[in-house]
Amino acid sequence: MKYTQMTPEEAAALIEDGDTLSFSGFSMTGTPRVVTEALAKRAAAEHEAGRPFKVSLFTGAITGDKLDDALAEVHAVDRRMPFNGSPLMRKAINNGEVNYLDMHLTMVGQYVRYGFLGKVDWCIIEAVEVTDLGEITLTAGVGCVDTYAQVADKIIIELNSAYDHRIRGMHDIYTPVDPPRRDVIPIYKPSDRIGSPILKVDPKKIVAIVPCHYRYNVPPFAPIDATTRKLGKNVVDFLSNEFRVGHLHSGILPIQSGVGNISNAVLDALKEATDIPPFTLYTEVLQDKGVELIDMGRCTFASTGSLYLSDSYYDKVMENIDFYKEHIILRPYELSNHPEIVRRLGVITINTALEVDLYGNVNSTHIMGTKMMNGVGGSADFARNAYTSIFICPSIAKKGTISAIVPYVTHVDSSEHSVMVVITEQGVADLRGKTPRQRAEIIIENCAHPSYRPLLHEYLELALKEGGHTPMSLDHCFDFHKEYRKSGDMHNVIFD
Ligand code: COA
Repeated sequence: MKYTQMTPEEAAALIEDGDTLSFSGFSMTGTPRVVTEALAKRAAAEHEAGRPFKVSLFTGAITGDKLDDALAEVHAVDRRMPFNGSPLMRKAINNGEVNYLDMHLTMVGQYVRYGFLGKVDWCIIEAVEVTDLGEITLTAGVGCVDTYAQVADKIIIELNSAYDHRIRGMHDIYTPVDPPRRDVIPIYKPSDRIGSPILKVDPKKIVAIVPCHYRYNVPPFAPIDATTRKLGKNVVDFLSNEFRVGHLHSGILPIQSGVGNISNAVLDALKEATDIPPFTLYTEVLQDKGVELIDMGRCTFASTGSLYLSDSYYDKVMENIDFYKEHIILRPYELSNHPEIVRRLGVITINTALEVDLYGNVNSTHIMGTKMMNGVGGSADFARNAYTSIFICPSIAKKGTISAIVPYVTHVDSSEHSVMVVITEQGVADLRGKTPRQRAEIIIENCAHPSYRPLLHEYLELALKEGGHTPMSLDHCFDFHKEYRKSGDMHNVIFD
């Protein structure tokens, strides 16, 4: 079958006001961008002419400036899911302009297949190859494209010549069958391959091929500083001790590590931690440090949903593709994060919190309870099903005016029932087997910043007067946050 070639503008002209667009890719990687860039211009022109033009976006996760930023800037987005990192989109979400659905990533595919989110008009896919039979070789990020391509009415392919066709063979595309015929997902170790190296779509649905040539620019992580270095060291010291005391007895357990500045520091610390035996990664995003761990032999295999790599690391992987294909597999996030597999493999999960309360509830998403930061992503998929779930964060934020350890979180993403260990640069609070009263003591003593410990103890005394299994002062549990709102520094809190 011969497909119709189009320019980005011609393809964007096919899209109508009110349409729902879905995309390949995960964390910018593998995410198309030339059609959405053209679509943003078209939306601006429509608005200029006094006509409405808004679309809904179902992405893999973070997308980058030519998709989220571009469309948010021209106010062309009605609904958006499931995870966002764009500053302009964040603004539009928080001022109520965009209807944002913050979802566990493993639920996205089945929500869409079950029809909970309505009809999907378009799937736009970044590819390095497509055959006449509709066999697509994806680029370096998968996301939820297996489902999106299945349900969408029409498909547009951005055929990106900046990416290397040698990636073919690294992907493992597989979509679980829906109930009542859902079966075991047969992954018993991270390297098990259960699907196809290509994404197969109905070729009749491909309405346009848009040739293009671009690279995403993965922004560099913040440099590792004294705080994040200490935090990373506390994580590896904790893991080393888990081996010493026999909690990690099977030698190799897979590790999941979130993406971001703080996770970057943890991966760096794992490079040096030679008393931890070589391990595997069962994770949703592989960043540069993950490749370094593979090169060093510290990581023997990585199952991931995305190669979130700087240009030089991406090129290195492509130049040594045979080696890396033996060490990396790229999957949809319905597999890379799946609760069944995470529980079966016994994954040690390491995710970042914005704030943690005295009972172990974690807020990963909402600043001061209301403003969306990014989204829950895969953090709770992993944490709820982990062998050991670890949440990490610096003990303070914004030059110390915010304590990350608070009496009560203003939003809960992972509840006390899923959180086993909390680690800050101050130390480790191992919550396993601890009651809420015991948790409160060790979280204050081991994880809170020393400048906030007296205030947290003061709160705890008030809470203990109220009694109960989970002592809590309903009158004062948000005083830290209220004080920050009032004076800009949680240190000024006075419990009266
Ligand atoms: N209140 C207000 N702001 C806070 C805060 C708090 N309690 N804690 C942190 N922040 C701010 C930081 O100051 C920083 O702001 P800045 O960019 O203006 O300096 C920002 O939040 C991000 O913190 P940073 O230190 O750069 O951490 P990060 O890049 O590691 O990101 C999360 C941290 C929590 C935002 C990020 O990990 C995330 O979105 N997590 C949820 C999803 C997830 O875990 N995905 C992985 C699963 S596989």
